[in-house]
Amino acid sequence: MPLSLNSALDDLKLSGIRRFSSLAAQTPGCISLTLGEPGEETPANVRVRVGEDLDHGLTHYPPNNGFPWLREAICAWEAKRGVTLSPGNVIVTDGATEALFCAMTTLLNPGDEVIIPAPAFLLYDSLVRLSRGIPVELDTTPSDFQTDPSALLRAITPRTKAIVITSPNNPTGCVLSRQSMDAVAEAARMHSFYVICDDVYGELCYEPDCRRFSALYPELAEQVVVVNSFSKPWAMTGWRLGWVGAGEKVAAAMSKVHQYAVSSVPAFLQHAAVEALGTDTTPMRDSYRKRRDITLGALAGMGLPNVTPGGAFYAFPSIEGLGLSSEEFCERAITEAGVALVPGSCFGGEGHVRLSYATDEKTLVTGLERLAGFVDALRA
Ligand SMILES: Cc1ncc(COP(=O)(O)O)c(C=O)c1O
Repeated sequence: MPLSLNSALDDLKLSGIRRFSSLAAQTPGCISLTLGEPGEETPANVRVRVGEDLDHGLTHYPPNNGFPWLREAICAWEAKRGVTLSPGNVIVTDGATEALFCAMTTLLNPGDEVIIPAPAFLLYDSLVRLSRGIPVELDTTPSDFQTDPSALLRAITPRTKAIVITSPNNPTGCVLSRQSMDAVAEAARMHSFYVICDDVYGELCYEPDCRRFSALYPELAEQVVVVNSFSKPWAMTGWRLGWVGAGEKVAAAMSKVHQYAVSSVPAFLQHAAVEALGTDTTPMRDSYRKRRDITLGALAGMGLPNVTPGGAFYAFPSIEGLGLSSEEFCERAITEAGVALVPGSCFGGEGHVRLSYATDEKTLVTGLERLAGFVDALRA
């Protein structure tokens, strides 16, 4: 008899984002607007700290949850954004990816449901399934990617254990309105479930009032899990550094998962992480805002409807009316126009494509010109 594997893996899809970025890489001259990969470098002051720590021999096992001085710096940084976390309840993780893994593994029992407002980053669905939970998709397309309170209430069942919120969002770039946040808070309060706040794009917000969920509803602190990452605002995707914070009980349980999954993040990256927290993200934000505006102007010129992204570095235009599925659109854009995007179907958002404007401005402008030519040709 063949040996079986963990059947929770059977329904897990491999990331479509990677498939389309690989297709782009295999196509000579193709411009890739696929990955959420910052075009800038990690700031020099951050990079230099690693060399210093290696020279000083900071190369042994650090504390599991991260050095106390880094966890204190994270809490001070969060406090400036209105988020109250205690250093004892923060774990430094291998990016937001591991933070979300710890959260799901800790919160879910088999059969527990997690509401995922969609379109959404695929990771949530996969991690829920790995924990033998049930992802419940809440389609936000009819409400311009905001949370419709009555749709949310319809998604809640006695098995609802958590909701994931991402603001600004991947793939839509949308920032949750105060009404959307209120709807989530009210439902969490009434029906008693956890709110997992994926704040990885929190620093890349172009709207004046971009508040964190946990800052708005401090009374829900015991139900909230805060996930964040060094990856996007400081262009540190390859460092694999993030954090997760929660109330005491949840944090203590997550720390077990973290300990058995990865033990700790590298010792010699942790002073550099403190350095990053002290490094102003305004220049990054300003350059992304400029590229966002270039992208919006180009999409308007192409006549592709688009809900204005208030943050992150993605646009999610509609391609309805062009007669192609999002997958066909992206495959043909690569072969016929030499520009790569990601199909909306990879995020539960068929009828749209995701365009990442994280790349440098010159590449972006050329990619947008190619896209415009492709859309014109489709319409002709
Ligand atoms: C919404 C969202 N959450 C989490 C992650 C994972 O980030 P990290 O690089 O910190 O693992 C990403 C990466 O693209 C993301 O877009």
